Formats: sequence, C-alpha cells, structure tokens
Amino acid sequence: MQFDTKVGTDIEEAAFWLKKGEVVGIPTETVYGLAANGLSADAVAKIYSIKNRPSFNPLILHVADENRLHDLIMQNEMAKTLIHSCMPGPLTLVLPRKSIVPDIVTAGLDTVGVRMPNHETTRTLLKKLDFPLAAPSANPSGYVSPTMAEHVAENLAGKIPYVLDGGTCTVGIESTIIGFENEQPVCYRHGGLAIEVLEKLIHQSIHEHIQPDVLHSPGQMKSHYATTTPLFIIQNEKDIKQWDGMHIGCLVFNQFLAEVPKENQWMLASDGDLHTAAKHLFQAMREMDARGYDVILALGVENNGIGYAINDRLHRAQHHLKND
Ligand code: TXA
Ligand code: MG
Repeated sequence: MQFDTKVGTDIEEAAFWLKKGEVVGIPTETVYGLAANGLSADAVAKIYSIKNRPSFNPLILHVADENRLHDLIMQNEMAKTLIHSCMPGPLTLVLPRKSIVPDIVTAGLDTVGVRMPNHETTRTLLKKLDFPLAAPSANPSGYVSPTMAEHVAENLAGKIPYVLDGGTCTVGIESTIIGFENEQPVCYRHGGLAIEVLEKLIHQSIHEHIQPDVLHSPGQMKSHYATTTPLFIIQNEKDIKQWDGMHIGCLVFNQFLAEVPKENQWMLASDGDLHTAAKHLFQAMREMDARGYDVILALGVENNGIGYAINDRLHRAQHHLKND
C-alpha cells in the first residue's frame, strides 16, 4: 500500500493508524521504532515487509508499564530486579513468552524481548492503546538506525502513513539486550545501558552470548548498521596513510586529526563524554554517508561503559565485514 507519509506530533493520529493495523514511526530514547500492534499477526507482518527484514529475526514488544509486561512474559528474580531498577530505560529483557504473543513477533522462539521506552510521547501513546507495540528500529534492514523523525521519513517515505515526531533521541544507540540461559544472565547486544551498571544491580557478571552456529539475536549479525560509503575503523592517525589520495571523511571522538581538513571531520563528543558520542553516532554516520566521500574512517573509542556499544556498531558497519 502507498501512503502520503506525514511527520507530526499528533499522538491521536499515531494511535488512529495503529488501531487500524497500520505501521507508524515512533520516537524512543534510543532510536526511532517502526511500530505496529504487537498482538496482531497481520499488522506485524507489515513491519517485516516494509523493513525488508528476514522473517527469522524476532521483534521486541514495547509497553508503558509493569502491569502490561506481566501479560506478555514470565519473570525470574534477576529480571524483576532489572525491571524495577532500569525500566523505563534503554534495556530489553528476553524472557519466556506467554501464549498471547504471536509467533511472528518472536520468529517462532519461545522467548520474547520486552522493553519500556523512556520517552514521554511514546509512553502517552502506549497508554492510549490496549495492545503492546512491536517495533524494530525504523531503518531499512541493514542500514543505519534513525535518531530523528526526518531520518525515518527519508528512508520509508510512501511506505507508512505517519511518523510521530518526538525530537532527537537522547541516548542515540539501541537498547542493551539481556537474556537468561541456564539461569545465567547473558548479553545479546550491547546498547544504551552499560553492562557494568546491570552487573552491579544483580551482583553477578553478565557474559557475552557467543554461539556462532546458532543465531540467537540477529543483532549479532555483522552486516548491520552499514553506511553505503565504505566505513573502516582506525586506531590512530597514522593509519590514514593507507587511504592516501582518496576523498576521506573522518568520525572522531573529541579531537580533530591534524592530517585531515576539519570540514571533512565529524566530532562525536566535544565534551569527551561517551554518552554524547552515542547520541550523535548514527546521525554522524548518515550525514557523512551523504557527503560522497570515497571512504569514511572512524576512530574507535574507549572500550568501557557505553563505549562497548559504540565500538560494536562501528564494527558492524565496517565494510570488509559485510559479507562475513
Ligand atoms: O532500542 C531498541 O531496542 C530499539 C527501539 C525501537 O526500541 N529497537 C530495536 O529493535 O533495536 P531491533 O529489532 O532493531 O533490534 C532488536 C534485536 C534484534 O537484533 C533481534 O534479533 C533481537 O533484538 N531479539 C528480539 N527478540 C529476541 C529474542 N527472543 N531472543 C534473542 N534476541 C532477540
Ligand atoms: Mg535494528
């Protein structure tokens, strides 16, 4: 179906389309989501088709409050602690699902990812609905996630009726995904909430989920978040020599590189704060992608706190990993 895509701040209009079973762009504190009625298999099917998303990649369900969470999942003690301390917030928990959750949401898995976004507009919207919202990030599969309503409209114009504009996402990088295996917490995706913070809350270390043969979370697939312009991570300024003679754009953390003209550099965090860098990362990748460089070079950041999530997104966007 073709739509004349509107961008606006009318929560009623977003609710109207969602109740009709259509797909709407919604703001969250992490990235914009592509939302539909999470209890309707027909509505959820539209998300997969609009995003061109492989059907084996499950979606997460968004709710406004804890009561509605109980309708969808079975909790354990650690999950309870994390729900009470971190929700609403940039955390998704993967837990055993209840039968009300349609198979298409979980791609047939017996677990479902649930999250309570910390964004007033979307919380108000969710309270007006009597169903949870299934929502992946609102980018076409494989491209950079959107952190502004305009990004969603640029990528999905004509495919959805409405994008609810809630301003620029304050976290800027997707939620951290935690699940449980053999009663132990595992991390499926680094994101907006640092693992160290979660470990302190549950008094336990959270291990990486690494199981190359079985794809538990396609967020673990490497060809994600990619720009069209080839992007490479460099460790320091000397590495730039390899690209001598090319038109280079650089993503830097809090210091410009001496060798590259300033106008070809995008500084992610002039204040040196990793949270600021996360907030700007996807916008920077999009803008650099549109400038027609031969190559985008990104300096990796410190591997701590939210830095893990930033480096993770850069690695997945890195060109030579695309066909792994
Ligand atoms: O911040 C976010 O989480 C954003 C906003 C819109 O809420 N959403 C988001 O959704 O990033 P998506 O679909 O782009 O990424 C969700 C990831 C996918 O990699 C999916 O494979 C994984 O969560 N996932 C969903 N359900 C899962 C499950 N039952 N077990 C393991 N991984 C799951
Ligand atoms: Mg995504």
